[in-house]
Amino acid sequence: MRTQVAIVGAGPAGLLLGHLLRAEGLEAVVVERASADYVLGRIRAGVLERTTTDLMDRLGLGERMHREALPHAGFHLADGERLIRIDIAALTGRQVMVYGQTELTRDLMDAAPGRGLEIIYEAGDVALHDVESDAPYLTYSKDGREHRIEAEFICGCDGFHGPSRQAIPARVATAYEKIYPFGWLGILADVPPCDHELIYANHERGFALASMRSEKRSRYYIQVPLEERVEDWPDDRLWDELAVRFGPEAGARIVRGPALEKSIAPLRSFVFEPMRHGRLMLAGDSAHIVPPTGAKGLNLAASDVFYLSDALIGWFGRCDADAIAGYSTRALARIWKAERFSWQLTRLMHRFPDNDAFDRRMQLADLDYIASSVAAQTTIAENYVGLPL
Ligand code: FAD
Ligand code: DHB
Repeated sequence: MRTQVAIVGAGPAGLLLGHLLRAEGLEAVVVERASADYVLGRIRAGVLERTTTDLMDRLGLGERMHREALPHAGFHLADGERLIRIDIAALTGRQVMVYGQTELTRDLMDAAPGRGLEIIYEAGDVALHDVESDAPYLTYSKDGREHRIEAEFICGCDGFHGPSRQAIPARVATAYEKIYPFGWLGILADVPPCDHELIYANHERGFALASMRSEKRSRYYIQVPLEERVEDWPDDRLWDELAVRFGPEAGARIVRGPALEKSIAPLRSFVFEPMRHGRLMLAGDSAHIVPPTGAKGLNLAASDVFYLSDALIGWFGRCDADAIAGYSTRALARIWKAERFSWQLTRLMHRFPDNDAFDRRMQLADLDYIASSVAAQTTIAENYVGLPL
């Protein structure tokens, strides 16, 4: 098979990119290792920036999102005693949308056949070839046969563990990484949220987050040591811990219910640069990871493909080689700022094993300052709602 752009990975980055290219009449094929059901079964991000919802609108795919998503004008930081409201709408004039990654992915998958975007699921052994040449190609196996897709460009949207980043030789790239000594244990349950807005809590026993998917479905997280296992956390133990970490006010409003899903995700900051090598471009988690504090992962994947689709449209429409050459620098400028925000919010809100009493007082002083300063709240709000493209 021949196409203009071969995309590896049908996560949010790959699907959004495929649709953005198809909307301009370009040919694109997406190759995904897993089945569609498997991709939709992964419970991940929940908060969409305006930049991400604007992309869905530009594609004409935002209808269900606007009907079902919950617009949020603010969120709270908690210090174990009180709630500090960050009024993002008043401070920035914008708001965010609570709409699960699963729903966004479903909208993009459902629209693919009608827009001529081919997605090949359950493709095994995907490998990238000749990315330094003008004729790169992908190979994969499916139904017991080997297949080959020849393309003008390959876009690696295959997440942190995919093969695309590995296809860039170490001698031309630099990887920056920070691994955090804890993970997030998440629970999804069909119970009303404890608040109509999100709460990020710094309790002396560790971080907790109250989020939601709808008015009837809650998503909560707690910080746990890396060696902890999901089996160590029966539902009752997790609900008890959440009640403690949100403090007396919000904690008392938690409604308990059986877990629909429970999982532990490690926390990591990671940036790989440059994000282009020859005819291969990386986007989303394949090039960078943020710790989830601040909800930037999915939104960064969306801003990457905004820049990347722009570059490819420039190439195919105007033979603009500078657009391709500039992609990595353009994307990384926004990525590093989101890395900074996620890292800073992670440090502010979590308990680190080597924190001493002084470090704890610094966190509390920081939160006290934020509570009293519109300038500090504005800084948080404008990063949370998403920096301009
Ligand atoms: P992905 O969503 O990872 O998509 C990559 C796709 O590539 C996948 O479908 C994968 O199956 C496919 N793929 C991988 N290898 C191959 C291969 N060899 N061949 C073909 N296809 C391949 N962000 C938040 O903001 N909040 C959260 O709560 C949150 N929770 C998370 C929990 C977990 C466990 C993880 C891993 C991430 C979480 N994130 C969260 C981050 C957010 O979900 C990601 O930033 C977002 O999914 C990035 O989209 P992506 O398309 O770049 O990558
Ligand atoms: C969710 C996840 C996040 O990382 C975050 O910052 C906010 C919300 C969520 O899954 O709902």
